[in-house]
Amino acid sequence: MTDRPDLAGRRLVLGLSGGIACYKSAEFLRLLVKAGAEVDVVMTEAATQFITPTTMQALSNRPVQLSQWDAREPNAMPHINLTRHADAVIVAPASADFIAKLAQGRADELLSLLCLARPIERCKLLVAPAMNREMWAHPATRRNLQAVRGDGAFVLGPGNGDQACGETGDGRMLEPAELLEDLLGVLAPKHLAGRTVLVTAGPTFESIDPVRGITNHSSGKMGFAIARAAREAGADVTLVAGPVHLPTPRGVRRVDVTSAQQMYDAVLPQAAAHDVFIATAAVADWRPAKLSEHKIKKEGKKVAPQFELTENADILAAVAALPDAPYCVGFAAESENLLEHARAKLVRKKLPLIVGNLGPATFGRDDNTLMLVDAKGHSTLPADGGTADKLTLARALVAELAQRLAAA
Ligand code: CTP
Repeated sequence: MTDRPDLAGRRLVLGLSGGIACYKSAEFLRLLVKAGAEVDVVMTEAATQFITPTTMQALSNRPVQLSQWDAREPNAMPHINLTRHADAVIVAPASADFIAKLAQGRADELLSLLCLARPIERCKLLVAPAMNREMWAHPATRRNLQAVRGDGAFVLGPGNGDQACGETGDGRMLEPAELLEDLLGVLAPKHLAGRTVLVTAGPTFESIDPVRGITNHSSGKMGFAIARAAREAGADVTLVAGPVHLPTPRGVRRVDVTSAQQMYDAVLPQAAAHDVFIATAAVADWRPAKLSEHKIKKEGKKVAPQFELTENADILAAVAALPDAPYCVGFAAESENLLEHARAKLVRKKLPLIVGNLGPATFGRDDNTLMLVDAKGHSTLPADGGTADKLTLARALVAELAQRLAAA
């Protein structure tokens, strides 16, 4: 299976209004094009004070639209031509002034004109505000944003932090990668709207002493991809993560834990309140029976220290055994006989679905093959048995889960 770029076949309008954040829009445009989108760039006159149309033309490989009076359009209607085939209009940056125009439905230059003229049911409008924190906090801006949201626009961010003016606070435009993630979320089919999903991910770390411990090679990538895909599909997602250095998918609630016991304590009290529990974490099966208070020293020891291990509780089996258990999906990372082991776990942990993969071959890698095993039989993702990147697999798994939930 070849991975299809996330925005393949999508047509977008990227609008820039005036603001220093225009410099980030060049990078955002690059990401959109790399993701396979065909992008028409429209700039207000103020935006051209911050970045040149030439830059945006070179990156989009298309002429940039600057005016509704552009004589190049045969019918003299760029606002219609640009929006009739577009999947979405994204205004990034959206200045306070531009948001005010949107709120009022004004149409005195091309960008606001096309926002008003777009087919509202089919062509989504996303705005990424960028302004000084005082402008952001002003009651007029609050009011305008509420109106724009009320009219169906999606507001992306803003972020918080250092501002170009030297002040610190809310109002920074989101970073290009964050904008892309939010855009994909808005465009994704909402298979899991109204559902709640709990995911565990990553390894656990079982302390031996204050500086050492037992852990494993799980990267957490699959679980993070599933949390992201479930969120994209409209679910309310909580991610309980072991020690990994991965960014939290946007819109996902994250709880960080270290040990298997902490993961158990974070999961069990809230599991029954969820519709789905997906256990991707590589939970350590054992922990040292005794935690040494101080670092175990080599000095003066003739023989290596011995450790007694004790078993960790099985989080997945405990959730599956709850009286009002959510739909439980287990993962089986095996080094051999995948199908046989996955079937055994399905039965032992009393699960409706197990997802198997060959662990050592996939830990930390970006692509993988998944085997779905249930009481009826098994199938693979991708269906042709090849490999796909973990986010593509996660989206396919989420679509599959949505079907199973709907059928249940
Ligand atoms: N799991 C869990 N809590 C544990 C151990 C495992 O929730 N203490 C979950 C994992 O997240 C995964 C599934 O159970 O979804 C399978 O875990 P795995 O360690 O592969 O299975 P085990 O039952 O531990 O069997 P074995 O180690 O013999 O392969």
